[in-house]
Amino acid sequence: MSLANTPDPAIRRAIVEQDLANVLHPIVQHRALEKKQMVVAGSSGSTVRDADGTEYLDAMAGLWCVNIGYGRHELAQVAAEQMERLAYFPHTAMNEPASRLAATINTLMGGDTHVYFVNSGSEANEAGFKIARQWAKQEYPGQFRFKTISRYYAYHGTTLATLDAGGMGERKGKFEPYSGDFVHVAPPTCYRCPFGLTHPSCGMACVKNLEATILGEGPESVAEVIVEPIMSGVGIAVPPDEYLPAVEAICRRYGVLMHVDEVINGFGRTGRMFAHQHYGVKPDIVAVAKGISSAYLPIAATVVRNHVFESFLGEPDSNRQVVQVNTYGGHPAAAAVAQRNIEIMLQERLAERAAETGAYLMDGLRGLLKHRNVGDVRGKGLLCGVELVKDKTTREQLDNATMNNVIDACKAAGVIVGRAGGGSRWGTVVAICPPLVVTRAECDRLVETLDRTIAAIPV
Ligand SMILES: Cc1ncc(COP(=O)(O)O)c(C=O)c1O
Repeated sequence: MSLANTPDPAIRRAIVEQDLANVLHPIVQHRALEKKQMVVAGSSGSTVRDADGTEYLDAMAGLWCVNIGYGRHELAQVAAEQMERLAYFPHTAMNEPASRLAATINTLMGGDTHVYFVNSGSEANEAGFKIARQWAKQEYPGQFRFKTISRYYAYHGTTLATLDAGGMGERKGKFEPYSGDFVHVAPPTCYRCPFGLTHPSCGMACVKNLEATILGEGPESVAEVIVEPIMSGVGIAVPPDEYLPAVEAICRRYGVLMHVDEVINGFGRTGRMFAHQHYGVKPDIVAVAKGISSAYLPIAATVVRNHVFESFLGEPDSNRQVVQVNTYGGHPAAAAVAQRNIEIMLQERLAERAAETGAYLMDGLRGLLKHRNVGDVRGKGLLCGVELVKDKTTREQLDNATMNNVIDACKAAGVIVGRAGGGSRWGTVVAICPPLVVTRAECDRLVETLDRTIAAIPV
């Protein structure tokens, strides 16, 4: 593993000019990019390097996805070898890498699933919605079950349907109106409980809210419930242990499918291969992406339990097959890379390592609670959040400008951290989601950087 290339200011300048003249970037304001850019040129382990030679500890694993770390040459070899053999053919036919990857995922999920391949987390959730609807049409012929129940403040993707399923007003506003097929309930964001209650005396009001909503909508109109086990976008909300089993019980009570979004949570991130496995539940639909290939190539999947799969079986003219196709679904090179990525995770025990390093990191992060501006520290495995407040007692959130300064100061010190939810339009949670190979020394550096930066927040 090595960081590529020696810095050349002229080349960097040319890239920036070419980029500004031609690229439309996601989410960032171009006026800001004109002033300050990052041009990523090399990477290794948990470190990325700008074309100007500056190195950063990437405590966000890219966009919560480079689970096995940067610079794994063997994945490039696997991709090249597969492309030489067979670069592409539509997945209406079979290919060896995709069938092997499906078998691997099936084993990791408990051995009773089938896997539908797509290219991104959004598509994996979107296919989940469609599979749930088609399943409901086939299994409840006299009913019209089409609704998905989801949680406020959730993030499930960037397409219109996944945005609609998500519950982030400020991300959705510009694209309204939506279909209205997604009904929202209160999330288990305990530090900012929507009911103003405290666990466990809350009596799990959020779960009661879910059941009341299904009853209010009419269970015969509901196809599924979608949950991300540990909500990432809202600022790493780890639910009480009884939350997911209670959600599963409600799904079973009303005959609706349980759809779990493991796009960030999956593939070792939380200290188990999949986050729902911490809670002993058996979801009917699981969306996976990101860590499936550690983002070396784009690939994602919608995994369905066999009882759902069986609903799609029938004679050729029964029209029960999955009525959708993605050009790149089951891409042989992406599948071969994902397979090798998962083998590396298993060989290097990266889920266990995430649990161990995560516990070490959380110890360090808890030390930050000494600061007047740190309201809460939470996480599971290597998915952690530090919620910043103006006032610990009232839990008033830090203002946007100061929050920006914190993230920028960490970056200036060579550490990339993220920014997530917090429960309002300002993301006031420092998100931490490093590659699972992050070392204890790198965790120390991360905590020291946050310590210094938070201590410098003006009163
Ligand atoms: C929980 C969750 N679900 C779905 C998605 C969408 O994935 P993608 O960006 O690959 O479409 C994301 C993206 O960050 C996510 O965090």
